[in-house]
Amino acid sequence: MRKKISLVGAGNIGGVLAQLIALKELGDVTLIDIAKGMPQGKALDLSQSSAVELFDVKIEGSNNYVSLKNSDVVVITAGIPRLPGMSRDDLLETNTKIISNIGKSINKYCPNAFVICITNPLDAMVSILQSSSKIKKNMCVGMAGILDSSRLKYFLSNELNVSIKNIETFVLGGHGDTMVPLMRYTTISGIPIQEFIKNKIITQKKLNGILKRTRNGGGEINKLLKKGTAFYAPASSAVQMIESFLKDKKMILPCAAHLSGEYGVKGLYVGVPVIIGKKGVEKIIELKLTPNEKREFNNSVQAVRELTNIASKLL
Ligand code: NAI
Ligand code: 2OP
Repeated sequence: MRKKISLVGAGNIGGVLAQLIALKELGDVTLIDIAKGMPQGKALDLSQSSAVELFDVKIEGSNNYVSLKNSDVVVITAGIPRLPGMSRDDLLETNTKIISNIGKSINKYCPNAFVICITNPLDAMVSILQSSSKIKKNMCVGMAGILDSSRLKYFLSNELNVSIKNIETFVLGGHGDTMVPLMRYTTISGIPIQEFIKNKIITQKKLNGILKRTRNGGGEINKLLKKGTAFYAPASSAVQMIESFLKDKKMILPCAAHLSGEYGVKGLYVGVPVIIGKKGVEKIIELKLTPNEKREFNNSVQAVRELTNIASKLL
C-alpha cells in the first residue's frame, strides 16, 4: 500500500512539495489549506501532469483537517510567510495559534505520523507542534538546517568553481541570524576548507562574506521576491527528510530536534545533526565543539529558548 503524505499549507512550499513527492513517487499526497478551492485546484493540476510525468500517486485537496486521517507523514507549512521588513520573530503570534490547532488535529487523526514542521519561526514552532500534538519527540522535527547548509554549499561551490557534489558542510543552531556554520566540518571532496585558505584559493575575508550571506539567505530571497519567501530549496530540503524516513535511509541531516541533555541543552528543539530512519530521529550526533563554536551555539540556543518561551506563553 502506498504511504499517505499530508501537506498542511498548500501555498508556495506546499505546492512544490506535492510536485516533488509525486515525481519521486514517495506516496499519495493530501494538500490541506484554509483557502477554499486552492488545494483542490493544485491537486487537480498536479494530477493531470501525471499523464506527462508518468507518476502513479493520488493527489487530493482539502479544506478540512479530518483529511489528516491515517497519514504516515505530515509536513506543515501553514501560516503567514515573512514579508519584507518583517522579522521571523514577528510571525510568532499568528503562527503559534495556527500550529497549535494543527497539532491538536494531528493528535486526533494521525498520532503515529512522522511530522516535519517548516513554518517560521521554525525552532519555536516545532516545539509548539510537539507539545500540542503530544506525538513522540523523535517523530516531530523541524526543517531548517538542510536549507541553511544547502545555501552555504551553493555559495562555496560557486566561489570555488567546483561541483556542488564535492561540498560537505553543516549549519547548526536555530534557524535565524544566530545560526552556526561549522567551518571545521566543511570539506571540498574531503579536503578541509582551511587547506583552500592556506593555499590562497579562497581568502578568509571572502569566506566571512559567504557566511554572512548564508545567515541572511532567507532575507536575500525575500527581498528579491518581494511577495513571499524562498520555496524551491525549502521544499527540496523537506523531501530529503521524508525520503530518509520512508526509505529508512538513515541519512545524517541537520534538523531541529528535541534535545534532552545533548549539547548541554535540555527540553528544547535546536538544529543539530541527526540520523533519520524509519523510527524518525533515531540518533542525535553529538559533536565536540571548540570553545568558540560552543559560545556561538549557546548564543543561538539562548535566542531559540527566548522565542520558544514567548510562544509557549501565548497559548
Ligand atoms: P505561503 O503563504 O505560500 O503558504 C502558506 C499557506 O498556509 C497559505 O496557502 C495559507 O492559506 C495557509 N494557511 C494559513 N493558515 C492556515 C491554517 N490554519 N490551516 C491550513 N493552512 C493555512 O507560504 P510558504 O512560502 O509556503 O511558506 C510557509 C511557511 O514556511 C512560512 O511560515 C515561512 O516563513 C516558512 N519557511 C520556513 C523555512 C525554513 O527553513 N524552516 C524556509 C522558507 C519558509
Ligand atoms: C528562509 O530561510 C524565510 O526562513 C525562510 O528562506
